[in-house]
Amino acid sequence: MTNQEKPPLTLGVNIDHIATIRQARRTTEPDPVAAAVLAELGGADGITTHLREDRRHIQDRDVRILRETVQTHLNLEMAPTEEMMALALEVKPDYATVVPEKREEVTTEGGLDVAGDVSRMTNLVEKLQGADIPVSWFIDPDPKQIKAAADTGAQLIELHTGRYAEAKDETTRHEELTHLRESCNRALALGLRINAGHGLTYQNVHPVACLPGMEELNIGHTIISRAVLVGLERAVREMKSIINR
Ligand code: PXP
Repeated sequence: MTNQEKPPLTLGVNIDHIATIRQARRTTEPDPVAAAVLAELGGADGITTHLREDRRHIQDRDVRILRETVQTHLNLEMAPTEEMMALALEVKPDYATVVPEKREEVTTEGGLDVAGDVSRMTNLVEKLQGADIPVSWFIDPDPKQIKAAADTGAQLIELHTGRYAEAKDETTRHEELTHLRESCNRALALGLRINAGHGLTYQNVHPVACLPGMEELNIGHTIISRAVLVGLERAVREMKSIINR
């Protein structure tokens, strides 16, 4: 496929930080539901949200209303727990990204260890995909995890771009990008569809957008940070123009 034939990359905007501001005062504003509307007006192709076990930002109510109001697609990030499985089966997001979760972490740290328990993970895929909810494993760019992700029967992976984003120098950044590229090639060969996210910014996103087979980028912090200063529609529009440059 030539570059010209490559379908445009899609942008999933993570709106959790809007709920973080609301929860700072335990009040009703700003509403992540309103943020999702504005993100879509700015060109978001999907809305991503993470209902954490401790409910530190997004609440159950948000997920249920977003399911009714999101006009694009809803990607629910969730830990592989019974509680979240039940909620996903009730809400029916357009797809579910399964992430590791630790109470003390500031944000998701590291990818999920799918290889560590393939039979439990396969069971989860059977339940969700059996209910028409495609599963995306949030994993590190590691051959072992990619193989395990394919073995579970999941349709998608989201490659964790944290190590690339946090690289302190160009050599390390280049190495991390190489790991990501090799992972994309491996995933494509195994028939997996590929998303990526974590730590992506207006400055570092472009090389990731150019990786083979990349379909969707899930981005939160940098867009919401810019939105505070320039408005959410403009912040989303500017990111969309970079990823499809
Ligand atoms: N993808 C996943 C699985 C995540 O957990 C997060 C953070 O919530 C993101 C993408 C977005 O990361 P960031 O906020 O750094 O853009």
